[in-house]
Amino acid sequence: MSGRRPQLEVVADAATAAARAAELIAARVVAGRARVLGLATGGTMVPLYAHLVAAVRAGRLSLSAVTSFNLDEYVGVAPQMPASFHAYMRLHLLDEADLDPARAHVPDGMAPDLTAEASRYEMAITRAGGIDLQVLGIGANGHIGFNEPGSDFGSRTRVLELSEATRRANAADFPDGAVPERALTMGIATILEAREIVLLAIGAKKAAAIAAAIEGPLSPNCPASALRLHAQVRIICDKAAASQLDGPQADIRRQA
Ligand code: PGA
Repeated sequence: MSGRRPQLEVVADAATAAARAAELIAARVVAGRARVLGLATGGTMVPLYAHLVAAVRAGRLSLSAVTSFNLDEYVGVAPQMPASFHAYMRLHLLDEADLDPARAHVPDGMAPDLTAEASRYEMAITRAGGIDLQVLGIGANGHIGFNEPGSDFGSRTRVLELSEATRRANAADFPDGAVPERALTMGIATILEAREIVLLAIGAKKAAAIAAAIEGPLSPNCPASALRLHAQVRIICDKAAASQLDGPQADIRRQA
């Protein structure tokens, strides 16, 4: 079984890709179709948030009625620490736009009982009515959220061990060398329950993961391949991230 082919949009460069993803998110929020957003972190998302902040400042967008749930957080990294995803969200979005911090949820990686925190997070998503639009990046190893290769497609929010590849990729955020070994992440099944998903991938280092996600086996070896089980997925890439795709490209809207 190979699943569906996600809608794929390949644009000329990184800046255009971030702008397109931000435009899609803003359009859904303005139309009242994204009251609950699933949000991601990472370098890829920085320009996307800058576009959303600019749209709020220009009066084209308001996030004041939005509730958000971030995908993941490191275990043992306090929200005040700059490398935490809590701090990332304050820096790139919450301190700059009109999203109510009380409605911006990030898993608590400092919770004394991480299993209870994972269940609480799932329940909070359910109580909010589920995620309307989930924003995703992709790891060079094909992870979505921190669902590393080997993650079950039925997985829910849980603690897991970060792969060596992910710890190396994120090492620059931990100048003391103390890259966390574990994280709390929404599971793949949690992500697939979102009504709509948009994945943003930038740069040649994501090309193998994008090719595996779209054209490789539907397999936990590439967690992002699970997105082919969902009917409403759009993948927005720059040309470099799309460079290892070789299947039928008829559905690509080339804007280059
Ligand atoms: P990046 O991370 O945007 O920093 O490359 C993406 C991810 O690991 O999901």
